[in-house]
Amino acid sequence: MTVSGTIVALAPLVGVYAQPELVLVKGEGCWVWDEQGRRYLDFTAGIAVNALGHGSPIVARAIQEALATGLIHTSNLYRTRPVAELAETLVALAFPGRAFFCNSGAEANEGAFKFARRWSGSTGTEAKREFISFRGAFHGRLFGTLAATDREAYQAPFRPLMPGVQFLEVGDVASVESLLESGTVAAVIIEPLQGEGGVRLVPTEFLRSLRALCDRHRSLLIFDEIQCGLGRTGKLFAWQHAGVAPDIMTLAKPLAGGLPMGAVLVTEEVASTLQPGDHGTTFGGGPLVATVALAVVRTLSDPSFLEGVTERGAFLRKGLEGLRERSKRVRSVRGMGLLQGIVLEGQSASVVTAAREKGLLVVAAGPEVVRVIPPLNVGYEELEQGLEILEEILA
Ligand SMILES: Cc1ncc(COP(=O)(O)O)c(C=O)c1O
Repeated sequence: MTVSGTIVALAPLVGVYAQPELVLVKGEGCWVWDEQGRRYLDFTAGIAVNALGHGSPIVARAIQEALATGLIHTSNLYRTRPVAELAETLVALAFPGRAFFCNSGAEANEGAFKFARRWSGSTGTEAKREFISFRGAFHGRLFGTLAATDREAYQAPFRPLMPGVQFLEVGDVASVESLLESGTVAAVIIEPLQGEGGVRLVPTEFLRSLRALCDRHRSLLIFDEIQCGLGRTGKLFAWQHAGVAPDIMTLAKPLAGGLPMGAVLVTEEVASTLQPGDHGTTFGGGPLVATVALAVVRTLSDPSFLEGVTERGAFLRKGLEGLRERSKRVRSVRGMGLLQGIVLEGQSASVVTAAREKGLLVVAAGPEVVRVIPPLNVGYEELEQGLEILEEILA
């Protein structure tokens, strides 16, 4: 390690991340460099955040445009034009309703839970307080969202968490129905494509059943599109593959091109139950991040951009399927678009380390799955280079 690398390794940071030794100093497109000048192909994209890659001119221009106004932050005491335009743009692309902006994915889901309970308290019936989540779900690490995250190791040291969350199996329509029938469920929350939980696609039919059951029993349906949304599956929102819209949708990760931002989109019916003072955040949805998000969302929602994601996603998938055929260590490949999971016979951590040593950054999604989540504007040549490295390690 370099002298500076040693200093960085000794930095007084809380040890909640198991970080490798490399110290990143530069990024461009799908590539990052460490301080020794070594180049890495970044197929983590900041965990599905850097949809337009590193050093995106679109993001840089939007930041400069926002800086030129001198308004980085105003708080939500006042209105600003970029925030209004972003809300209008997202609502037009998603479903009729309203937007709330915050700073992260977990914060977006916390907001969604609060909005669902607020709505349920105004339905005239006895308030529904509970939530249904699913096996394999990841919704964040705050007390509410952690309660809806299906990972014992993440939950155990921090109990008590928010009460009232029941976990069911994805696909178990009968159990969802019987819980909804009990009349205690405010909302069902689900990722249409589970990311952290192992890159598992939720069957389209199940999403449709959830929609029908939530309508029948007057509970809300929340789609967490924080990882799978905003173009990653080849459609702007993953639920568009199933053709059923939620009552509440949460977004974050790629929304502001690498700046921290989350969003909660709610139907007019849910919005109509929210009053000034019900929820809030100091930083959420400032004019700088909103200006950048507007540029990012306009880029990602372009049909030709989305078509490109579908095509490159198919190319990546084909390459990974080929790898599966040649490698005993690969059990299966699953995912959609540019969110693909390699299901291994062995441990994902060792493959992540081996790939990094060969200049490819990938990230685990649980103990047996390696996730491949490149920037959405990744080139074919870069996909080929990544596949070659994976082949060297796995075949
Ligand atoms: C589907 C999903 N929901 C919520 C979150 C939490 O987002 P954040 O880490 O920004 O709090 C994540 C993060 O990985 C996620 O993948």
